[in-house]
Amino acid sequence: MQPTKTGYMRRISKFYLGTVASLLLFVGCNKNDSQSGESGAGSIRIGEFASLTGKEAAFGTSSHNGTALAIEELNAAGGLLGRRLELLTEDDQSKKGEAATAVKKLISRDKVVAILGEVASGLSLEAAPICQTNRIPMISPSSTNPKVTEVGDFIFRICFIDPFQGTVMARFSQKTLKANRVATLTDVKQSYSEGLSQFFKEQFLKDGGEIVAEQKFSSGDKDFNAQLTAINAAKPQAIFVPSYYTEAALIVQQARQLGIQVPLFGGDGWEAPELLSIGGKAMEGCYYSTHYSPESTAPAVQNFLKKYKAKYHSVPDAMAALGYDSAMILADAIKRAGTTDGDKIRAALVETKNFEGVTGKTELDKNRNATKPAVIITIKDGAFKYVETIAP
Ligand code: PHE
Repeated sequence: MQPTKTGYMRRISKFYLGTVASLLLFVGCNKNDSQSGESGAGSIRIGEFASLTGKEAAFGTSSHNGTALAIEELNAAGGLLGRRLELLTEDDQSKKGEAATAVKKLISRDKVVAILGEVASGLSLEAAPICQTNRIPMISPSSTNPKVTEVGDFIFRICFIDPFQGTVMARFSQKTLKANRVATLTDVKQSYSEGLSQFFKEQFLKDGGEIVAEQKFSSGDKDFNAQLTAINAAKPQAIFVPSYYTEAALIVQQARQLGIQVPLFGGDGWEAPELLSIGGKAMEGCYYSTHYSPESTAPAVQNFLKKYKAKYHSVPDAMAALGYDSAMILADAIKRAGTTDGDKIRAALVETKNFEGVTGKTELDKNRNATKPAVIITIKDGAFKYVETIAP
């Protein structure tokens, strides 16, 4: 993997800051103190791996922005354990293989004390075994596939899991859309999509619904006419598409071109500005579930919105909010642990209770997952609109 632009800039600025810091230390302190740089009383290094480029770049960019904002605030408030926090970010380019490379670098080269990431479940699943083997706590802000935290006791997440999200969307389909005959269109290259599709189906059938067609595709596909034609022939009352935003937008567009009128709906993977920029008018009247809405009047959300907008000049989405909370929850655990030792941070994370964040209260259960409400969003007049909150 080539050093990425951010990685490169990071190294430059680290070198520059390091040089300035050593000069200052040289001027102001005795010689023994000047060894501080990176270890001991130096900065606390936190790793992050994210899809800053590539197909799911919208996920990584948002999540990183939220995370970076949290680190900045923590440092402004004096850092942790009397030390500054340093966020080291690796771009995994939204690609399988690169997530493993990224966390290996963060652990062996950068010696981070904990790792934040990924958004996409498939990439979290790839990195988790490496963190587990090295006893480095990993917190995924927003991977919802249950298998992620099953990798081991060093792997955490601060969001709900897909058996819940699947249930929410199955009930939403029957109660709100009044659709009892539904077709599914699943991305077989994403653990996220396969999992969510399966959990949706289990609940939907249990509640007396009928799955009239089950079609599949692979990440990166651009033509969905064959699958949509087959789905149309089965006459569903709605179509569930648990994919990521790029394919979701194309699928909805092509469905409308084929004259399919029924609502299409998805899960949190739909959340990205690209859903609207790619899907355009076709997205009107579609729905998806996610973790948070910027329309919430909760003081924690409004306060976060203000700070995020001031720094990035855009409205934070669910990944930004979860990225922010993931860094704050890690910081809270490090503070309670009183040390940066991986085993002790892990033990403190397990004790996370009633943590008030932007995405609500976080309590980590014995399986290192969080239980949180889901939010339903619709697309109206070319914008995302809050519909309802569904409690666990
Ligand atoms: N939950 C998705 C996954 O597990 C990722 C995601 C989270 C996407 C939040 C959008 C918003 O892959």
